[in-house]
Amino acid sequence: MKSLLLNIFKGRVVSPYWILLIDLVLVSNSFIIAFILRLNLLLPNYSFLSFFIGGSWVIFVYLLSFLIFGSYRGVIRHTNYSELKLLTSSYFSAFVTLLVLDVVLGYFQIKWFFIPRLALVFHFMIALFLAISFRMLVKETYEFLTKKKDTENAFIYGAGDLGLIAYEAINNDKTSRYEIVGFIDDDPSKWNMSMHSVPVYKWKRALEIGEAKSIKTIILAISDITIDQKHQISDECLKKGWKLKVMPTVGNWVNGISNPNQIRDIRIEDLLGRDEIKLNQKSIADGLSGKTILVSGAAGSIGSEIVRQLLKFPVKNILMVDQAESALYDLQQELLLSYYDSPFTVIVADITNKNRVQSIFEKYHPDLIFHAAAYKHVPLMERFPYEAISVNVGGTKILADLSVAYGIDKFIMVSTDKAVNPTNVMGASKRICEIYIQSLAQSDSVKTSFITTRFGNVLGSNGSVVPLFKKQIERGGPVTVTHPDITRYFMTIPEACQLVLEAGFMGKGGEIFVFDMGEPVKIDDLAKEMIRMAGLKLGEDIEIVYTGLREGEKLYEELLASKENTMPTHHNKIMIGKVRPQVYEYVNAKISYLLQSINNDNEELIVKQMKDIVPEFLSQNSIYSSLDLKMAE
Ligand SMILES: NC(=O)c1ccc[n+]([C@@H]2O[C@H](COP(=O)([O-])OP(=O)(O)OC[C@H]3O[C@@H](n4cnc5c(N)ncnc54)[C@H](O)[C@@H]3O)[C@@H](O)[C@H]2O)c1
Repeated sequence: MKSLLLNIFKGRVVSPYWILLIDLVLVSNSFIIAFILRLNLLLPNYSFLSFFIGGSWVIFVYLLSFLIFGSYRGVIRHTNYSELKLLTSSYFSAFVTLLVLDVVLGYFQIKWFFIPRLALVFHFMIALFLAISFRMLVKETYEFLTKKKDTENAFIYGAGDLGLIAYEAINNDKTSRYEIVGFIDDDPSKWNMSMHSVPVYKWKRALEIGEAKSIKTIILAISDITIDQKHQISDECLKKGWKLKVMPTVGNWVNGISNPNQIRDIRIEDLLGRDEIKLNQKSIADGLSGKTILVSGAAGSIGSEIVRQLLKFPVKNILMVDQAESALYDLQQELLLSYYDSPFTVIVADITNKNRVQSIFEKYHPDLIFHAAAYKHVPLMERFPYEAISVNVGGTKILADLSVAYGIDKFIMVSTDKAVNPTNVMGASKRICEIYIQSLAQSDSVKTSFITTRFGNVLGSNGSVVPLFKKQIERGGPVTVTHPDITRYFMTIPEACQLVLEAGFMGKGGEIFVFDMGEPVKIDDLAKEMIRMAGLKLGEDIEIVYTGLREGEKLYEELLASKENTMPTHHNKIMIGKVRPQVYEYVNAKISYLLQSINNDNEELIVKQMKDIVPEFLSQNSIYSSLDLKMAE
């Protein structure tokens, strides 16, 4: 029987005209019942003709109302509150119309419409009751037949809007593996209440009853939650052996659709991120509106996030420039899914090829440039200084010079904390870029406003420590940490890119904006936390191995935003670095000479020249440390 019913339900959705017919049958049957009730079962005392005419009027008026309201068009098995509201409105309108007809025609003593008014009231109540009951019966039968199997019990943490969206998405998706058996909320007014017939608990109570309810998962569905709260919830879940999942906030849904596939594992980024950044949306929107924006390094971690952030504004076109063809293709596919009607152009190009870059400027005439193309890996650039100079310095110079030549409005460069008192080739190459674009900004004849943004590590970027640890943990270890005391400042990629946008529309030009990176994180603690989050025990399931500092690596990164070396701005997380700009002619001559010397294939000479331009560049853990000694002598 069950499988027969299931087959019926699995078939195509019933035509709305069948639903209309069923509703009319219910309306006519209700009319008979209402009459019988009104006349105390004395139907024979009533003329059959009057009964027939009255009944026809009722069916006609109700039919008209159903057609006007379209209350028969919903898919019965998915009837929801708004469809019930529509249904009630259509019944009520028909009832009121019949009452008015009864009064008006009665007043003119037109006999062919005679229905006792009480019978009309009875009829309305019975017919509506039957129509709602019919829908509920079909819905419940469908729910019963398609009840999910092999599900795991879960609580949703958050009985607000996002929690309810998560609940509905899970409940409506018959393939979802969660069975929601409770909500958790910190608001006492919601405790002991229920939402969608599911009880709401306080966190403490949920922890007590979780075992009895066979809870396996907690789904975090709150938008305003502090990092400390997330930590506490994560710790308790680990103790209980529950999985902690996250329902992303509305702005982060893939394709803008709420569905249970969006629910993901909690990530270390969720626990290390900081409280949400408030952006000056108006000044950014004014600055971006109708503009063509070139993003270099668009396929990279920072560049791609800048593109995603830019797409939220009414821009004219985003030119996504990168030499990494496959990564650019992947980004294009992602954007076509989420922002298919947004204006972006994918351009495979190498920024060290001047002719190529010039032809892009010539063709698209960009108004703004976000420059995030770079080589960034410290140990690799230590071994290949040629590449660091060619891409980081050469590429930046080409883009910056063309920006001046083409009168671009703004050039916003992404720099790094490694450029501060650099100890490696990569950091020094970025410092040279900063010096160059700052010197360009000094000239009165230059229309372009050049802005530098400096920040520390971003969580989860390509080749960074978080994806590396993740892979090592998945493989069963060991997790490699270079030094037990090494610390780094971290930001999430969206946080850093939001600040890049904000800083881009803050300055007049020539500034180096430095971001507040919060407190430094011990990499050893990060590794331990990620091991714990994976449900593993350090020393039993997995080991941490200390491999020694790598070439050019510092134990502690410089504090970017101290009171001594920065000045405040109106944004509490953005400061202006106190860095004295240098004279363009002098800087340009030195950098041009450096760029020529990379053709000589003499790495020591290249690094020596870098140290000449950046006197504070003292190599650490590097074969170039000897150069510092020689230069000191
Ligand atoms: N990732 C971080 O933690 C972090 C933190 C602070 C600052 N930054 C800075 O941000 C910038 C970008 O870093 P990322 O993490 O996005 O790196 P990434 O490696 O993910 O991205 C860099 C992109 O630049 C592209 N690129 C390199 N050379 C190019 C060339 N010649 N022509 C065109 N495209 C080229 C690469 O293909 C890549 O897609 C770097 O300057 C880095 O120092 C990064």
